[in-house]
Amino acid sequence: MKCSTLGIGLAGVGTVGSGVILALRRNGDLIRDRTGGAVDMQVTKALVRDLSKPRAVALPQEVLTTDWKELVADPSVDIVVELIGGTTDAFEIVAAALKAGKPVVTGNKALLAERGVELFALSKEHDTPIHFEAAVAGGIPIIKTVQESFIGNRIHSMSGIINGTSNYILERMTTAGLDFETALGEAQQLGYAEADPALDVNGWDAAHKAILLATLAYGFPIDPAMVHVAGIEQVRPIDIDFATRLGYVVKLLAVVREHPNGAVELRVQPSFIPKSHILASVNGVFNAVAVHGDAAGESLFYGRGAGQDPTASSVVADLVEAARSLRQATGHRGFLPYRESGQLLPIENTETASYVRFDVTDRPGVVAEIATELAKEGIGISGTHSPVNPESPDADFVDMVFLLHTCSFGKLQATLDRIEQLDCVNSSPVVFRIEKL
Ligand SMILES: NC(=O)c1ccc[n+]([C@@H]2O[C@H](COP(=O)([O-])OP(=O)(O)OC[C@H]3O[C@@H](n4cnc5c(N)ncnc54)[C@H](OP(=O)(O)O)[C@@H]3O)[C@@H](O)[C@H]2O)c1
Repeated sequence: MKCSTLGIGLAGVGTVGSGVILALRRNGDLIRDRTGGAVDMQVTKALVRDLSKPRAVALPQEVLTTDWKELVADPSVDIVVELIGGTTDAFEIVAAALKAGKPVVTGNKALLAERGVELFALSKEHDTPIHFEAAVAGGIPIIKTVQESFIGNRIHSMSGIINGTSNYILERMTTAGLDFETALGEAQQLGYAEADPALDVNGWDAAHKAILLATLAYGFPIDPAMVHVAGIEQVRPIDIDFATRLGYVVKLLAVVREHPNGAVELRVQPSFIPKSHILASVNGVFNAVAVHGDAAGESLFYGRGAGQDPTASSVVADLVEAARSLRQATGHRGFLPYRESGQLLPIENTETASYVRFDVTDRPGVVAEIATELAKEGIGISGTHSPVNPESPDADFVDMVFLLHTCSFGKLQATLDRIEQLDCVNSSPVVFRIEKL
């Protein structure tokens, strides 16, 4: 078989970009053998911000550039890999590559979730694919699973733990009794959390990934502004404590589910999940996605959701696929919208049982006041508790916890808005979903 070297234009030589270079050096021969000699790849141009920065992975000086236009236009570049992150320069690079007919590989979930509509349209217009396995769950081949392996399934649901940083923080809060700030500090020290961990802890990193999965499974572009996202910043040791006592584990859960009327439920929030469910034992920086297809039934995909080598593994797999498509035209393989009338289920219409924590002034009648408001809306209470701090049993302000029967989120939210106005309630109630998985 013909084997001429394909040139890679690598935009970004950071954590993942360096991993890609190392993986190609380590396993380039293996890839060549496994593809029957068809795929041989070499990084011929690499984009960085700072040419003088010392790098663990050395590249010849003439390969490096700080000008993305030079990288995309270079005739030695056949495939463009975008690993710089962000949604501005990254957008320009991907758009320019597609217009030049150069297949793109990216690990950038924020870019595709926020600006995927424009990029997938360009991909279609120029019949040039965007591959993005590394954008969701690092080394777990979940994009390929949804796009290819489950192509003959109607996907009923996908529930996932798809942000390793928040999962690590929640695990440390659970097993070591740390508070949120201490656990976050530990994650940063270990290099699991970014210096700016905002997208990890506010739920948006997981939401971007969930949006991509839902887009593939249900065939219509999803506006991020329509997605309900809550992060783990409000999780307190008391919530972890309650969850443990009640037989649950707190996880940042992404839920994607198709309803019988075709509407798609899509939300990300800290949730109580039963200790006995397999997702409850996904710990540390690991990710897992449970996919329920009408034919395949329930399948679980588990593995390393981030990090240099696992993410590079997905990028390299996409590179091989992009290289094959260049060698043998297989047509466009990015996301093609196929469902015109797709719609998200309004978050108000989603239903679960819930755990609600109130910060209240401790005086007689508080429980009754809150319970009365809940009863007015027919929201059932399955339990209530107010832990006493043994060091200050007469404290004026206490946490009060209610476990509530299943009701719509809209009804719950409206009732909580009213409860928040009560004199005895000092701040916005904190809600956790209790999931039936
Ligand atoms: N890290 C992970 O585990 C992981 C997992 C899955 C997906 N991803 C995604 O992969 C992408 C890359 O992540 P990373 O962790 O590898 O990032 P990173 O370590 O911060 O590396 C970014 C690289 O891009 C270069 N760069 C950034 N902005 C640039 C610009 N405007 N112009 C030119 N070069 C620029 C940087 O240059 P300098 O080296 O000169 O600073 C650096 O080489 C992101 O989209 C991320 O979401 C990462």
